Amino acid sequence: MRSVKIGMIGAGGIAQSHCRAITDVKEKDAIEFVSIADIDPERAQNTAKKWNIPHVYSDYHEMLAREDIEAVVVTTYNMAHRPPTVDALKAGKHVMVEKPMSATLADAEAMTKAAHETGNKLMVALKSRFSETWQAAKSIMSTGALGDIYYSETVAARRNGIPGFADSFIRKETAGIGTVADIGVYCLDEALWLMGHPRPVSVSGVANNTLGKTHQPTRGSWKWDPAKLSVEDFGVAWVRFDNGAAMVFKSVWIMHMDEIGHTFFLGTKAGLKMSPLTVFRHEWGLMTDSAVKGIQEVEDIELFRRENIAFSQAVRDDLPVPIPADEMLYTNVIIQGLIDSSAAGHEIQVSVPRV
Ligand SMILES: NC(=O)c1ccc[n+]([C@@H]2O[C@H](COP(=O)([O-])OP(=O)(O)OC[C@H]3O[C@@H](n4cnc5c(N)ncnc54)[C@H](O)[C@@H]3O)[C@@H](O)[C@H]2O)c1
Repeated sequence: MRSVKIGMIGAGGIAQSHCRAITDVKEKDAIEFVSIADIDPERAQNTAKKWNIPHVYSDYHEMLAREDIEAVVVTTYNMAHRPPTVDALKAGKHVMVEKPMSATLADAEAMTKAAHETGNKLMVALKSRFSETWQAAKSIMSTGALGDIYYSETVAARRNGIPGFADSFIRKETAGIGTVADIGVYCLDEALWLMGHPRPVSVSGVANNTLGKTHQPTRGSWKWDPAKLSVEDFGVAWVRFDNGAAMVFKSVWIMHMDEIGHTFFLGTKAGLKMSPLTVFRHEWGLMTDSAVKGIQEVEDIELFRRENIAFSQAVRDDLPVPIPADEMLYTNVIIQGLIDSSAAGHEIQVSVPRV
C-alpha cells in the first residue's frame, strides 16, 4: 500500500495524540508523518525527536514547499487554524484540521472556499464521529426509524473542568471561543449529523464566564487562572431550523450542578437517547424502550487512529473525506450565532453560507 506522507503544523498537546495514534497503527506503513512545523522551535524539535519525524521547521511555509508532502494535519490553536489551512490547500496539499474548524464563521467560510477553489480535500478532525455509539446511532437514524425529527437537546457539561492546563484554551487571542468550541462542538456536530444537517435559520444564545472569573479552582477540580480566562465557560442556545425542527444546545465547563441533561432526539415515529443508547416507540399498542446491546466504546487514542486512517485513505484513494468542511460549517454557523446573539441580547437570524 502506498504510504501517504504528511506534514504536521502545530506541535502542542494534541499533536502528540495524533503522533501516538499513528505510531501504533497496524497500517502504519500507509501513513507517515515526515515533517513538523511549530513557531516554537523547541516544541517542534522535541516532538520530532519523540516520534522520529525527520524534518523540522519553525515556519510552516517552508514545510509546504516540500513536494513529498501530500497532506497536512493542522493542530494549531483555534485562532491559528485558518492561515495554515488555506496556505496548505493553496500549496496543493490536502488538509485535516483539528476541531473546531475555526473560531469564527468567517474563518470557516474562507477555509471551505479555499478547499472548493483548489479542489483539495479539507476534513475536520472530529474524533467522536468514529465512536462506536455514534456510529450505532447513525445506523439507526439513517434508516428513517425516527420519522421526522422535530426536536433535540444536545449537551456537553463538566461540573468543574476549565482546561487551564494550556493557556491557549482559555485566552481569547489563541482560542477565540471557549467551552462551545472545546467540548460543545462535539455534541453539536453529533446532533446535526444524526439529524441529517437541517439548515439553521435562527439562534438565541447566552454565553458568559461569570463562574470561571469569580471562582478559584477547588481541590479535585481542573486548574485554571481566573485572571487569564477571557473566553466563555458557559454557552446555551435555542436553534430553529428551516424544516421546522428546534434544538437546545448546552456547553458548560463549570457549574454548580451535577448534570444538566443528555443528548436526545424526538421524532414522529420514535425517540432516541444517546446514553445509554435507547429507542423509544409505540408498538403493538404498547410503549416500548429498545436498549441497544453490545456496544463497546473504544479509547480516545483509537478514535485518533481511526480519523488519521480515514483521512489518509481518502487522500490515497481519492475518496470524499468523511467529515467535510461543508458539513462542519453548520457547527460554525450555530456557534457564531450563539456568541453574536448573546452579545446582542436577543435572537438573531443565521444562514449557512453558500460557498
Ligand atoms: N481532538 C481532540 O481531542 C482535541 C483535544 C484538545 C485540543 N484539540 C484541538 O487541537 C488544537 C490545538 O490544541 P492543543 O491542545 O494542541 O494546543 P497547544 O496550545 O498545546 O498547541 C498549539 C500549538 O500550535 C502552535 N502554533 C500556533 N500558531 C502556529 C503557526 N502559525 N505555525 C505553527 N505552529 C503554530 C503553538 O506554538 C503550539 O505549540 C485546538 O484547535 C483544539 O481545539 C483537539
